[in-house]
Amino acid sequence: MIIGIDKMASYTPEFALDLTTLALARGDEPEKYTIGIGQNKQAVIPNFEDVVTMGVNAARKILTVADREQIDMVIFATESGIDNSKSAAIYAQRLLGLSSFSRTIELKQACYAGTYGLMQANDYVKAHPDKRVLVIASDIARYGIATPGEVTQGGGAIAMIVSQDPKLLAFNDDSVYMSQDVADFWRPLDRTEAIVDGHLSTDIYKEMFLTLWQRYKQNTNKTLNDFAGFAFHLPYTKMGKKALDQIIDEAHDGQRQRLLANLEASQLFSREVGNLYTGSVYLSLLSLISNSSDLLPGEQLAIFSYGSGAEAELYSVTLQKDFHQYVPADETKAMLAQRHEVTVAEYETMFNAQLHHSYGESQTAANSARKTVQFWGWRDGQRIYQ
Ligand code: HMG
Repeated sequence: MIIGIDKMASYTPEFALDLTTLALARGDEPEKYTIGIGQNKQAVIPNFEDVVTMGVNAARKILTVADREQIDMVIFATESGIDNSKSAAIYAQRLLGLSSFSRTIELKQACYAGTYGLMQANDYVKAHPDKRVLVIASDIARYGIATPGEVTQGGGAIAMIVSQDPKLLAFNDDSVYMSQDVADFWRPLDRTEAIVDGHLSTDIYKEMFLTLWQRYKQNTNKTLNDFAGFAFHLPYTKMGKKALDQIIDEAHDGQRQRLLANLEASQLFSREVGNLYTGSVYLSLLSLISNSSDLLPGEQLAIFSYGSGAEAELYSVTLQKDFHQYVPADETKAMLAQRHEVTVAEYETMFNAQLHHSYGESQTAANSARKTVQFWGWRDGQRIYQ
């Protein structure tokens, strides 16, 4: 039985900050941000968006009536969730009009949880071939104004449907994975911004990629020449290059150029949005299949997922027969191009306007002219969505 990603879509809010403007405001050289880090823009999250709205807005782009009937599990991966008890998947189930007779669950392990969700979905469909699983990865990456991590902020969501006979990508069931207790990035319950040792996190990411790559080769007998491209977790786009550079000399000449060109294709969307945490590696995958000019059905792509703390997984997928027809490339590009650019002052105001308190009634800047699902504010301690 062939199981994999049948459909995927992304969503990011309608506001973006130009990072050259941010660099100048912070007294940094713009090239540090655009070349050294590899980011052009970052998503700015208004207070009427959160992980639920972004995840639901991504999923609404792909769900048909038939999907709604067949989906009987919703897996919601996030590390910037909105409740310590209730799963974001339950809100998503209602807002997406899915059946009450479905399982709903939220997963957390930093940026890695989306991958775990996909692997669970794969196993579930193996056991229940007629079912479909909706996997949502949605996050807001917040480090704080004028912190070293600020340039790597961002936000957005990826929604994917896992099923048998997928139209886009088949799982090859060749995962290697590892976990190790490391203090590179974490967020205590009383904080809205993460504590991060940025340089350590970069080192651990590189180290885990290298370790898993050796293990993967041993287990599968594959080499770098077997892959048309890589999708990396991209907290910032330079991170993917740092990882791939460690092994690129294992490829033959033409293959090296191809992998580097496809790495650039995989970075294009993240360059415009920033870190999506759980969704980043899948935005990179979407970017690769949307922007590469040479991918062919039957070819394999490698996927490296990393979540601080730390846990990583490396696996591969195979491009399906007519995958080109089903990649939402134009729609994703249009969504990114249509965003409004905000000034640094506007971004700072929006950053500080995220509503955190559930006490009393409050209203966000939600507006009924928008066609998306929005977070309208707090009423009786409840988050109001419509
Ligand atoms: P920093 O210390 O401000 O930057 O923080 P830097 O001094 O290391 O410079 C960055 C790069 O810019 C360097 O290149 C400089 O040489 C270059 P590199 O040596 O890295 O190749 N540079 C320039 N290039 C061109 N022209 C110039 C120029 N000036 C300097 N004029 C850091 C950077 C990424 C550490 C920081 O932003 C940070 O802490 N970010 C957050 C943590 C992070 O993203 N970690 C990534 C790995 S961990 C991960 O992926 C998990 C995560 O997503 C969370 C989760 O799992 O939940 C974060």
